[in-house]
Amino acid sequence: MNFKSIIIILTAFILQGCKEEAKSSVTDSVYAVTSEGEEIHKYTLINIKGMQMEVITMGGAIISLTAPDKEGKYEDVVLGYTTPDLYLNGNPSYFGAIIGRYGNRIAKGKFTLEDVDYQLPVNDGVNHLHGGKGFDQRIWKAEIIAEDEPSLKLSYTSVDREEGYPGNLDVTVIYTITNKNALEISYEATTDKTTIINLTQHSYFNLSGNFKTILDHSLELKADKFLPVDNTLIPTGELRSVTGTPFDFTIAKNIKEDINVHNNQLVIGKGYDHCWIFNDTVKHMKEVAGLYHKDSGRYMTVYTDQPAIQFYSGNFLDGTLKNKKEGNYENRSGLCLETQHYPDSPNQKEFPSVVLRPGEKYKTKTIYEFSVR
Ligand code: GLA
Repeated sequence: MNFKSIIIILTAFILQGCKEEAKSSVTDSVYAVTSEGEEIHKYTLINIKGMQMEVITMGGAIISLTAPDKEGKYEDVVLGYTTPDLYLNGNPSYFGAIIGRYGNRIAKGKFTLEDVDYQLPVNDGVNHLHGGKGFDQRIWKAEIIAEDEPSLKLSYTSVDREEGYPGNLDVTVIYTITNKNALEISYEATTDKTTIINLTQHSYFNLSGNFKTILDHSLELKADKFLPVDNTLIPTGELRSVTGTPFDFTIAKNIKEDINVHNNQLVIGKGYDHCWIFNDTVKHMKEVAGLYHKDSGRYMTVYTDQPAIQFYSGNFLDGTLKNKKEGNYENRSGLCLETQHYPDSPNQKEFPSVVLRPGEKYKTKTIYEFSVR
């Protein structure tokens, strides 16, 4: 055997090894059992690069998601509880969950649709938040739909008048971990009566790999306007320019830079807890946000077809929940970038419509793509 053939054989062995190592997969296991005896399953999705996501059927919650740093080290970048009980008993911080039927707030839980007045439960001071006992607290049906680009389909039927909303609503959410290290989320829904809908995802990101703080992350939002809120966090109706305010993220800026500036909106939100309106509100996929953690080099790009995003800087995290890594989740140790329609739209005629009618299909998509810089 000459030198050349040895090299060819060695290369073939190495390539074979890589192929073995880089196999994508989706596995199913039992995660927990509810007090009613129902099994909650956990699905582990791994792509060819080794990026991994764990999803549970309670709330369709993403309980872990890894992304590589500049050295290629994959670490968990989403907050989660350390034990199943909080996911099973109300998910108080909405960690990683699917949010619906209406993500964000509806003033006083009231709205009128086709001349009928509806009253939803009030669960956030005087307002209705995140669907009441919402989709985050429901058990979803799961079906593995692909293993090469690992993909999981979750389905849930929200019955007519559940939490006061009209219409039987069939919802599916598909999570895919693409081979480009992106988490793709596709939402679809249909109804048999006119209803309102605003689905989103409530993962708290922290790209550092230790979940200590998000104040050292820098954020860019392709949004020249945001929605100021009243002191119950309901939009006043004004679309305010971000120019010259702490809400200006049109050029990437460290979150800590302005978060403690004296500003009435920051006082009301206890930090950032506001909805930004994209410059491009047309319904097509576009790049809308970028989140960067300099030390690790991790970068997350957000794409969506939605018109707005709620940037919540983890202001209600108060150091009482256990951190998956070490210690507890301190104030501002995670942040949410919830793509969505504007809060309280059912009561604000100037805001884009959130109405879904029988025969129509609600269809939207958001992508969180991970890379390094
Ligand atoms: C959303 C809201 C926040 C808060 C969190 C959950 O992001 O806008 O005010 O309720 O969910 O704690």
